[in-house]
Amino acid sequence: MERIKQHAIWGHKGTFVLAATGSAVGLGNIWKFPYITGENGGGAFVLMYLVFIALIGVPVMIAEVLIGRHGRANPVGAVSKMARQSRVSPLWSAIGWSGVIAAFLILSFYSVVAGWALDYMSTAIQGGFTGWNGDSASTAFDELLADPLRLMLWQTLFIGMTVLVVVFGVTKGLETAVRVLMPLLFLLLLMLLVYAAVAGDFMRGLQFMFSFNPADLSWKAASVALGHAFFTLSLAMGAIMAYGSYMPGKTSIGKMVLTVAALDTLVALVAGLAMFPIVFATPGISPGEGPGLMFISLPVAFGNMPAGVLFGAAFFILVTLAAWSSTISLLEPCVAYVTERFGVGRVKANMVIAALAWLLGIGSVLSFNRWAEFSGLFGMNIFDFLDFFTQRVMLPLGGLLMALFVGWVAKRELLRHELRQESDGQFRLWLALLKYVCPPALLVILLAGILA
Ligand code: PHE
Repeated sequence: MERIKQHAIWGHKGTFVLAATGSAVGLGNIWKFPYITGENGGGAFVLMYLVFIALIGVPVMIAEVLIGRHGRANPVGAVSKMARQSRVSPLWSAIGWSGVIAAFLILSFYSVVAGWALDYMSTAIQGGFTGWNGDSASTAFDELLADPLRLMLWQTLFIGMTVLVVVFGVTKGLETAVRVLMPLLFLLLLMLLVYAAVAGDFMRGLQFMFSFNPADLSWKAASVALGHAFFTLSLAMGAIMAYGSYMPGKTSIGKMVLTVAALDTLVALVAGLAMFPIVFATPGISPGEGPGLMFISLPVAFGNMPAGVLFGAAFFILVTLAAWSSTISLLEPCVAYVTERFGVGRVKANMVIAALAWLLGIGSVLSFNRWAEFSGLFGMNIFDFLDFFTQRVMLPLGGLLMALFVGWVAKRELLRHELRQESDGQFRLWLALLKYVCPPALLVILLAGILA
């Protein structure tokens, strides 16, 4: 008798929430969200972001989990199955393809940036921030970026850590990892929040993040907020679809997705509330620093505050864990695709994909130093191009196609069956948002992202 390989299912009821939150919570929440909030005017930006998460992110996430769970296969296999059962063109499986490819591309450069966090973690643990000021912190950051070997060392280590988990499979590897990493992550975050409240200028941080000024509402801020809402929920990149495919049939997709979106948002807000007070408490550094907020302003702050060594180390450990649970979710859909499509073993699939992502990642490493002048990809270097192409093109395009596919094309009964735990009213509300609100919004960010 032929042995049919069974697609894995999470061993515990709550694992989907932990794993998907692990995917969602990452550099996007801790590094990017605070600085884009700083750049786009604080409270008004936060408000738009919250609205987009609720009205657009959540419905698309439900659609994505639904496709995965219905298909019980890797992203390409899952979309194909739904297309087949809905009797529509197999070309819709492009959604799955785009997810797997985006996951691979993001993995390649995300592990480079995550490597910076590892470097800072090691400095922090050794008490290396002590006495830093704005200038010395900028120099230290520039020195790191200028050193390809040092960057490659951390990038390699990070990809290695990711493989170490994914190679053990869904239940032994991923499930075990998120069950340890996520509670630790929440604990560290809470600890940092308390520290910010005690040692930082908490009121100013709070005011900065939540003071609402209508003049800050702009189209540009809206497009940044919507793009980020998608990125931070890990949407349209195969990750959430793959995790959904391991979800037991009894669980309510709606409840799980709402929990993940709420936790991800909470972590972003708390990360901001933990960082800004620390930044405000240190003279001479500013919250509008941009990408350097985490790697320049924050080390200066930690280097000059009581117990800064301890909390600085805790902070960069937090960032590392958050990024780790995200790269795991980027490698998994690629591995699931390769093992299921080509029947190769998990170990081999891991090795090949990780090696290719590592190789492509070197292009990103060199974009910060040796190849910094290269601008052959539509005027961008490799790192900037991959960042642009995945986040501004593939992500909104994938989301748009997914909303159209599930909202307009897929068989209604099939959707209703997958969302059987939800009430009729909830189902109708979800479908209406997916059909009428998501596509135009996604089209706007797609165009704004390409043309801007
Ligand atoms: N959501 C992650 C973050 O905010 C990034 C990510 C995107 C991870 C897509 C996995 C898949 O950092």
